[in-house]
Amino acid sequence: MKKIIILLLAILIFSCKQENKKVAVEQNLILASVKKEIVKESVIVDSAMVVSAKEEASKIGIQILKNGGNAFDAMVATELALAVSFPVAGNIAGGGFMIYRTIEGEIGALDYREKAPIHASRNMYLDEDGDFISNKSKVGALAVGVPGTIAGIFAVHKKLGSLPIEQIIAPVIALATNGYFLTEQQAKRITYFKASFLKTNNSESLYTKEYKTGDTIKNIALANTLKRISENGRAEFYQGETGKAIVDFLQSKNGIISMEDLNAYEAEWRAPIVFSYKDLRIISMSPPSSGGICLAQILKFIEPYPIKSYGHNSTKTIQILTEAERRAYADRSFYLGDPDFIDIPMDELISDEYLKGRMDNFSFDKATSSDSLSYGIIPGYESDETTHYSIVDKFGNAIAVTTTLNAAFGSKLYSNKLGFFFNNEMDDFSSKPGEPNMYGLIGGKANAIDPQKRMLSSMTPTLVEKDGAFWMTLGTPGGATIITSVLQTILNVYEFDMDMQQAVDAPRFHHQWFPDIIRFEPNSFPKDSLNYLKIKGYQVIENNSIILGKVDGIRILPNGKLEGGADRRGDDTAVGY
Ligand code: GLY
Repeated sequence: MKKIIILLLAILIFSCKQENKKVAVEQNLILASVKKEIVKESVIVDSAMVVSAKEEASKIGIQILKNGGNAFDAMVATELALAVSFPVAGNIAGGGFMIYRTIEGEIGALDYREKAPIHASRNMYLDEDGDFISNKSKVGALAVGVPGTIAGIFAVHKKLGSLPIEQIIAPVIALATNGYFLTEQQAKRITYFKASFLKTNNSESLYTKEYKTGDTIKNIALANTLKRISENGRAEFYQGETGKAIVDFLQSKNGIISMEDLNAYEAEWRAPIVFSYKDLRIISMSPPSSGGICLAQILKFIEPYPIKSYGHNSTKTIQILTEAERRAYADRSFYLGDPDFIDIPMDELISDEYLKGRMDNFSFDKATSSDSLSYGIIPGYESDETTHYSIVDKFGNAIAVTTTLNAAFGSKLYSNKLGFFFNNEMDDFSSKPGEPNMYGLIGGKANAIDPQKRMLSSMTPTLVEKDGAFWMTLGTPGGATIITSVLQTILNVYEFDMDMQQAVDAPRFHHQWFPDIIRFEPNSFPKDSLNYLKIKGYQVIENNSIILGKVDGIRILPNGKLEGGADRRGDDTAVGY
């Protein structure tokens, strides 16, 4: 009898344990194994900080700040220093977006996104049967959009800078002349892409030489280009000797960019997307980037749910974020493009009234299928490699800047004479409705190619205020995953109490409507969680090749100090004083 009672008790305890385990999963108490991945400590300083993808660039930005410059002067120097020392994405023949907030609380957004050339046409990447020739928008001169970076930095300098431009560019010219340090990641990448550089350019170049970790790369051609830009200003790039060399080079490679295109290029000051999430005021990039609107939609979708209690990277948190992302990316594909060409219902897309109903068909019991979900209907209303840096100066000005060539080394086209790579931003257009771009993003008419139109972006440079004061600056590369990486980093600090370094280092996941899968960083999430999500109807994938962002950010601590987070996934470095 005693044995039977013990046996029954053992069965009861075992089944309770099993039930508890099941409940733990059901209640989303299984947290991702974040800690084993975290190897860096937050950098904490008193006055000013630059966090970027390369130590040389962060140091040059800080040098400008120490020499009396402000965040906007440091932006110009950091952007150009990345073009020298981080050529995979740093650029002068690409484009980007900047969000700023001055010490007085004035906010603004600069769009220096590339544009389609005047001779671009809707079907320029389709063959005679109307089929998309995908390589044409990705590699070589036809993939290049009219570059915006030089216009962007001069627009910033003119409006908000304080030091003479020659003083700002001088240390960058010195960097190009004396050379930059090649990290292991960089050496591997250049080796990986060497065959592609040779094939695209049909010639040897600085970047087809043999390199190893620790080498110093001197780019004298780029130093000379920068000297001319320093002496002659913005016009050097869009009208001068450099502009003419760009056009000659691209046209010799069967490109269509002309002097007329360069002459016509202007960076545009735009109103940022501003919205609240709980007691945070978030300031992010407006179209032609989808970043701000998608970030706003996702945060507003999840606001009613107590995700803090669900836990960081718990299955319940993953479900709610996934479903919110699914719906926001569906809207992105239909509504968003260049605001100078299409009407975008910006206010409506982030209004409580519109967003309220969009999560109605979500249940924790079962995944929503992307096939069953389209963009929302707005009454009356009929798209990896990039780099981000954040700067805060001693005055309290803050900026978030994301800049890109699109793919790694852009179109792979490299001018030996000028010393830089050209973007392949044309691939961010929707070349054919329903045809995915290199990030798998599907677009429609709103993002179709038109002459002089800007292609839709996902770049999400973002500033956050808390209690009316500046609190955080952040952003990331990563194509379609930019938005969801920025989102998770804000939540990691705000909801899950991480410090800035932990927040940028924590494992991430991503969903973008189509393809209807959740992408997880490999070996970072418990198998039990992934299995549970599969049972609920989600397709999950852990794929090494997928970039889930390299977030760089700075947060103001309650004691007023600056805390920098530089993503462990790259060579990113926070420098401050
Ligand atoms: N080229 C990536 C983006 O702008 O989203």
